[in-house]
Amino acid sequence: MAQILEARPLTPVTKYFRLAAPLIAAAAQPGQFVMLRVREGGERIPITIADYDRAAGTISLVVQQVGATTSLVCALEAGESILDVAGPLGMAVELPARGHVCGVGGGFGSAALLCLMRELRRRGLATTAIVGARTRELVILADELAPLCDRLEVCTDDGSTGFRGFVSQRLAQLIEAGGASRPDQVIAIGPMAMMRAIADTTRGTGIRTLVSMDPLMVDGTGMCGGCRVTVGGKPMFACVDGPCFDAHEVDFDVAMRRNKAYQAQERQARDRLACMAQREAR
Ligand SMILES: Cc1cc2nc3c(=O)[nH]c(=O)nc-3n(C[C@H](O)[C@H](O)[C@H](O)COP(=O)(O)OP(=O)(O)OC[C@H]3O[C@@H](n4cnc5c(N)ncnc54)[C@H](O)[C@@H]3O)c2cc1C
Ligand code: FES
Repeated sequence: MAQILEARPLTPVTKYFRLAAPLIAAAAQPGQFVMLRVREGGERIPITIADYDRAAGTISLVVQQVGATTSLVCALEAGESILDVAGPLGMAVELPARGHVCGVGGGFGSAALLCLMRELRRRGLATTAIVGARTRELVILADELAPLCDRLEVCTDDGSTGFRGFVSQRLAQLIEAGGASRPDQVIAIGPMAMMRAIADTTRGTGIRTLVSMDPLMVDGTGMCGGCRVTVGGKPMFACVDGPCFDAHEVDFDVAMRRNKAYQAQERQARDRLACMAQREAR
């Protein structure tokens, strides 16, 4: 059971949570995730550790409401608790010893750059964060990220703030500019289409690129095989071998196909939740 110390909406569909979770905070590293279960008999869902504070014993999560379980999480408020929070799970993202690292975040993925940028700075590396969203209102945590990195680039599809265009286009410009703008390593986390575009942008440039894969997960401990991704032609389990993998080795076609495998069941779960909410309201 983890108590929610802070809960605030970042956008109409995205919520920030700070939880009391001292054991997880003590061991967490950038790139890792937790498995949440909101209620007895409910499903477990993986959520990236956006940030952690070892001294305070807290972790931060950002949850985007897309279906039944994320809706239940996003309905929670400060003072309430989450039934199970298991972690930290997965491997920490591999960080280089020196150079310039660019973190790229889209949607809820921008949140994961918080602990990544802080850790890179602690190690003395040069950092750029590129965050993207469709519009200005959907950009999250830019104010919190700005003091943690050397350079922050905000991109919106409609140009309502920052660079007009996709994060991959801005990254291409930085690579093209060369010199101090050109990163030595890129770490991307966000929607699959965005991570694929980032992989395509850096392919052939010699820039090591990692993507944080988010396949469907069941147990999160390597037992069920649900989170299988194909990397370098080999099957890997994102929950124990990842979730970060070499972007140029990931088979995105397979990953995208597998994430759509249970859409009918997901729709049923959403409908069931809506029925229950209606019944409770009566
Ligand atoms: C390692 C990892 C880290 C993650 N970190 C975060 C995070 O920090 N914040 C966050 O909001 N979400 C994160 N996710 C995704 C999150 O786990 C799913 O959105 C959640 O499980 C959906 O549950 P649901 O019951 O609400 O929706 P469902 O009814 O299961 O799904 C609703 C819709 O979302 C799609 N969907 C479901 N799971 C995923 C997924 N893994 N990736 C992409 N689309 C999916 C479905 O295809 C469907 O269209 C992460 C996933 C992984 C594997
Ligand atoms: S979630 Fe079951 S093996 Fe990874």
